[in-house]
Amino acid sequence: RRLAIGIDIGGTKVAGGVVDEAGAITHRTRRDTPHRSTSPRVVEDTIVESVEELLRQVDPDDVVAVGIGAAGFVAEDRATVVFAPHLSWRNEPLRDALTQRIELPITVDNDANAAAWAEACFGAARGESHVVVITLGTGIGGALIIDGHVERGRHGIAGEFGHMQIMPGGIRCECGNRGCWEQYASGNALVREARAMIEAGSPVVADLLARLGGDASALTGPFITEAAREGDPTARELLADIGEWLGIGLANLASAFDPGLFVIGGGVSAADEMLIGPAREAFRRQLPGRGYRPEARIVRAVLGSDAGLIGAAELARTGR
Ligand code: BGC
Ligand code: NA
Ligand code: ZN
Repeated sequence: RRLAIGIDIGGTKVAGGVVDEAGAITHRTRRDTPHRSTSPRVVEDTIVESVEELLRQVDPDDVVAVGIGAAGFVAEDRATVVFAPHLSWRNEPLRDALTQRIELPITVDNDANAAAWAEACFGAARGESHVVVITLGTGIGGALIIDGHVERGRHGIAGEFGHMQIMPGGIRCECGNRGCWEQYASGNALVREARAMIEAGSPVVADLLARLGGDASALTGPFITEAAREGDPTARELLADIGEWLGIGLANLASAFDPGLFVIGGGVSAADEMLIGPAREAFRRQLPGRGYRPEARIVRAVLGSDAGLIGAAELARTGR
């Protein structure tokens, strides 16, 4: 069997897995992402530990390569992470550092590019010619698939849609700017808005706070999604707000790329129609020339938050 290991390094978790040729995960591992104030070496250690743990669970001879999906700007050399808003990498020679510690071929790509590749090979983007993939997690990841390849731009860093400015003078972003899309439509934005409501002492949020046992610090994106699923109106409203910002950004992307399909993945996409419904509405309201042009479909990713590690593994397995 030809297996590959995929490691997806996001802003909050490092998810790893052994993946087979059909894109199925046979073994998993998960660790917290080291805080961005710690040295790159600590992130490296976390990756190496994840790979070693997975290799202990299979016949190592079956594993042909390791693919890394990294939450940052990966240069055209597919080896260097030039910048990462949520991690400690600044011009980090990630592939070479890992090559010294892991005895398998290693490929590096942006996390959202990896997720998009998984959706193109095994998921929602199969058979589509022009696709924009968006991952909603700590930040917003993006990728453009055209005729079966991931478009990486001149310097490797195309698809950084999370840092499009959609609100001049808006909320400060780790990238250095203000008003980036990911400050309004990501998992972080969801939690920040819920906290702000709690801090404002709004009675509207009382039920949600009661669910938390009064402990606002326990609030997470998955918690809000769960509460919304159980009918909490405030949680639903918070998700709908995120969805609306999502739709506005998608309308801008339609202007730039005219895709046939948008695929929405990442942890927040677990909210499904509670998020994507409002996104479709905002998209239709915001689309330039609406009513006179074909509209892209907006669907949820099939592989959910596994897409990043599956895609990283598949890119590595096939040497792409
Ligand atoms: C980063 C991207 C990454 C995305 C999702 C953004 O803040 O700039 O490189 O793909 O977060 O992790
Ligand atoms: Na990308
Ligand atoms: Zn930004």
